[in-house]
Amino acid sequence: MKDGRIPLYDIRLDSGTIAEVRDTLTSGWLTTGPKVRKFEKAVAAYLRMRYTVAVSSATAGLNLCLQAVGVEGKEVVTTPFTFMATVEAILQSGGIPVMADIDPDTLTVDPDEVTRKISHKTACLLPVDIAGHPADYDSLGDIAQASGLPVIADASHSMGAKYRGKPIPRLAEAAVFSFHSTKNLTCGEGGMVVSRFGPLVDIIRKASLHGLTAGAYARRLQKKWLYDVEQLGFKANMSDVHAAIDLGQLRLFEKNQARRRAIARRYFTRLASLDDHIALPHISEKVEHAWHLFIIRLHLSRLKITRDRFIGLMSRRGVECGVHYQPVFNFTLFKESGYSGQYLPNAAYAGKRVVSLPMYPGLKLSQVDYVCEQVSDIISRHGR
Ligand SMILES: Cc1ncc(COP(=O)(O)O)c(C=O)c1O
Repeated sequence: MKDGRIPLYDIRLDSGTIAEVRDTLTSGWLTTGPKVRKFEKAVAAYLRMRYTVAVSSATAGLNLCLQAVGVEGKEVVTTPFTFMATVEAILQSGGIPVMADIDPDTLTVDPDEVTRKISHKTACLLPVDIAGHPADYDSLGDIAQASGLPVIADASHSMGAKYRGKPIPRLAEAAVFSFHSTKNLTCGEGGMVVSRFGPLVDIIRKASLHGLTAGAYARRLQKKWLYDVEQLGFKANMSDVHAAIDLGQLRLFEKNQARRRAIARRYFTRLASLDDHIALPHISEKVEHAWHLFIIRLHLSRLKITRDRFIGLMSRRGVECGVHYQPVFNFTLFKESGYSGQYLPNAAYAGKRVVSLPMYPGLKLSQVDYVCEQVSDIISRHGR
């Protein structure tokens, strides 16, 4: 924010990123082409994975994965504690979302609850890595193996995260990253499907561009105009302009992640004494957190104010906070379809108490201190 307020997210593009975009703008080719290929290869190298396909958004990527796995008329066990896009992709693919409750500490889906929700109609498991904290992939892997179900990971928040030293796509049939403007690796709007399975990625690549056997750039390279369509696809490809932004951002990624870790450490230090009134993010010993978000949980019974009032007071002091997430069963669309939070108490409670504090590489530690002072002052005035 230019008015001196501290935003929840902020993006500053460096000269290298701008040069990469300028190069594309003057290259004679703007849509899916050499920059997308370069970006796909760069992410594959960073994650040490073989198969990557860049897409227009994580929502599109999830949709393509679910279509490839085949969920039409079948159930997909997922979490209600996520952004709408996760569940939207299931519905758009003709699947039926079945919601399993979450672990109240990590805010990711509880594997025991997943087991309870599996039926003969289940086609797939869809965990979400919240804030950059991976889901419990050991347990989910065991469940997947025992049931023969594929895992599609919504890894929108977890580029750079690891579980037992492995990047998320190693732990699932496919993982989908988001490069939306708020994410820790961004090009404004974009996503990527990453998998160990080449044939799956081939299907998704083709489906992401109308089902064409050869897109416009491939036809130029092959010097052949002919293409075929064997299966119905979508329009979900990434443009070279977006890939150029992401290529620039990927070069800074490790440095930016180190900043995020330093900011998280500062929040932990400065907020530690407030544990009667707030819970700090829980980090399983198996994970390396990506710190896309820094989510605190208010102990509402120890406060005389609501979460909304807390966020309002922070805003009056110049700090923008967010909520990730209100569980999807709270939305009218789901209520009208008969979904309810009655048997998902952890998600319902988390949805009332979570507050995201500012987190972006350009956030100064002095600003983190200011944010923490405001949290502390509000608690001292309104705590019980
Ligand atoms: C958990 C989660 N899943 C999916 C998405 C969708 O990402 P995109 O905007 O790239 O479609 C988001 C984006 O905010 C998200 O937070």
